Amino acid sequence: VIMSKLNDTFVLGEQLAHHLGIQRVIIIPGDSGSHTQVLKSMGEELNRVLDKLLPLGSSTIAAMGGTTMAAVATALTPQLSKQRQLLFVPARGGLGETMGIQANTICAEMAAHSSGNYRNLYVPEDISPESFQSLVGEPVVRSVLEQISRANVVIHSIGRAKVMAQRRNMTTSEIQLLEERQAVSEAFGVFLDVHGQVVYKVPKIGLQVSDLDKVSDVIAIAGGAQKAQAIQSYMKIAPHQTILITDEAASEMILRDK
Ligand code: G3H
Repeated sequence: VIMSKLNDTFVLGEQLAHHLGIQRVIIIPGDSGSHTQVLKSMGEELNRVLDKLLPLGSSTIAAMGGTTMAAVATALTPQLSKQRQLLFVPARGGLGETMGIQANTICAEMAAHSSGNYRNLYVPEDISPESFQSLVGEPVVRSVLEQISRANVVIHSIGRAKVMAQRRNMTTSEIQLLEERQAVSEAFGVFLDVHGQVVYKVPKIGLQVSDLDKVSDVIAIAGGAQKAQAIQSYMKIAPHQTILITDEAASEMILRDK
């Protein structure tokens, strides 16, 4: 029974990868939206995927923020640093969100669990354009931005537009605009509708979706039935080399709507 279940999820993964137009989809049984154990298994899968795809030697891994990323960060293991030097850098943005789910914190966590190194980006959001320019000119900030642009792996999650707008304290008029334009997903600071059209962009420094084309491996981690529509929407613009680690609940929902 277990073997046939494994085989089913493998076939489902292939179908989903084909449907979404990306390289690979790995499906973890269950619903990560309601069972934290499923999220933990998604983290363990991330660790396995990284161990397989990271070349020996040096790698720079750019990581995004969010609750999914915070949960999977703790599943990385020191085995990843065997014959490798890993450097984790925050993919985008800086200070602003709750400490525990900021990309900076997640990089530190990932580095701690995988025996790697990390760099932080000390650029607050909501500062004047003048202060922003002078901060970006600082050698310490500039060197992290250069490292981000050299990342060979990017790990990120995908959010639901409404949830992300509330979490980011967007203004009432911004939220209204997102509703009018029917935004359903958010990733890398862009809000998308069901067709994958960008309907709103949050200006931030660091990686843009358009930069992903030159990144060898992009890993997206998102699951839960509630995120099915958001995942589907973002995958319309995801680069082909994306590997999606998701769960059964989201997968079945996406394939049902097909
Ligand atoms: O940009 C998307 C968010 O990082 C997703 O956040 O994992 O808390 O849903 P979440």
